[in-house]
Amino acid sequence: MTNFIPPMELLHKAILLALPRVPKAMIRRIAGRYIAGESIEGVLGVVSDLAAEGLWSTVDVLGENVTSDEEADRAEEEYLRLVERLSELAPPRQVSLKLTLLGLRVNESRLSDRLERIVRSAQRHGTSICLDMEDSSTTDATIRIFRWLKAEYADLSLAIQAYLHRSVEDLKSLLPLRPSLRICKGIYNEPPEIAFSDRRTIQENYVHLLELLIDGGGYPAIATHDPWLVSRALQMLASRGLGRNTHEFQMLLGVGEALRKEILASGSPLRLYCPYGPDWYAYSLRRLRENPRMGGYIFKSLFSTKVLRGGYLK
Ligand code: FDA
Repeated sequence: MTNFIPPMELLHKAILLALPRVPKAMIRRIAGRYIAGESIEGVLGVVSDLAAEGLWSTVDVLGENVTSDEEADRAEEEYLRLVERLSELAPPRQVSLKLTLLGLRVNESRLSDRLERIVRSAQRHGTSICLDMEDSSTTDATIRIFRWLKAEYADLSLAIQAYLHRSVEDLKSLLPLRPSLRICKGIYNEPPEIAFSDRRTIQENYVHLLELLIDGGGYPAIATHDPWLVSRALQMLASRGLGRNTHEFQMLLGVGEALRKEILASGSPLRLYCPYGPDWYAYSLRRLRENPRMGGYIFKSLFSTKVLRGGYLK
């Protein structure tokens, strides 16, 4: 018997296979929806515009998996400049960072020095920091570094991925810190031995993590565009009488704009993830290829008015 592949899935795969031949201008149009610009100047403009709509931001410098100290040093310099320039804007201010961009795969001790300098500067400038969670080869180190930094610096949060089997135990072990955790589903391709792949199971684990975090006295950043999860989270918050200052929702720039309105109407704060940087082309191709679902998102994006207008990348 031949395996049946649904036509939409075939179309999504075909889109991803064709990516290298897609003109850069077209990728720019697609990526422009998710990327807040190529420079600090560009991202500051986007953050100010979002603030005018009542939205918070977390700003991320594009890039990951650097292979030399020179590249990691350049990323540090960019973060230091970013933290300084962000302080021109009104609070709340946050930056997100990926440890592999700052040299996790090159030299952990030099990574720690870079992080300390960034965190110290962020503290001086009243800016919080969130550590993104990357693929599972980095989970142990990311949690270890979070614990170490958290001892010195209160305004620090960490992303936890609902698709990983280990996340419930990780979250429980962090609860004594009363942590601020961004709960997300997880974006990397992970093997079935360590990660759930079924949508419903991931949703259930997400809800479980959220309940543990809220009831354990932590601060949840509910990062999702899944309407079912958003509505479960809102019910959970309402049933416990939890107001605006106990949590926040988070979404990616350019995604789920109808849901955005719904969250704001509920009275909960909403923060948008705003990545920027000159590396947007390589980064976008990599992320588009990494996640097979992105083929579907691209297909939808092709018909979105924002993409036709070219998004935030000028
Ligand atoms: P789901 O994938 O089911 O998406 C729900 C709907 O949202 C889709 O049907 C689609 O319409 C839309 N959608 C979702 N993502 C889209 C996209 N990129 N483009 C267009 N439409 C899209 N992951 C990780 O591993 N480590 C991390 O540190 C983070 N950090 C992070 C921060 C923030 C603020 C967010 C919102 C997400 C992350 N993620 C992440 C990514 C996260 O793990 C997850 O892969 C995506 O959010 C998609 O999952 P959803 O919960 O949105 O559900």
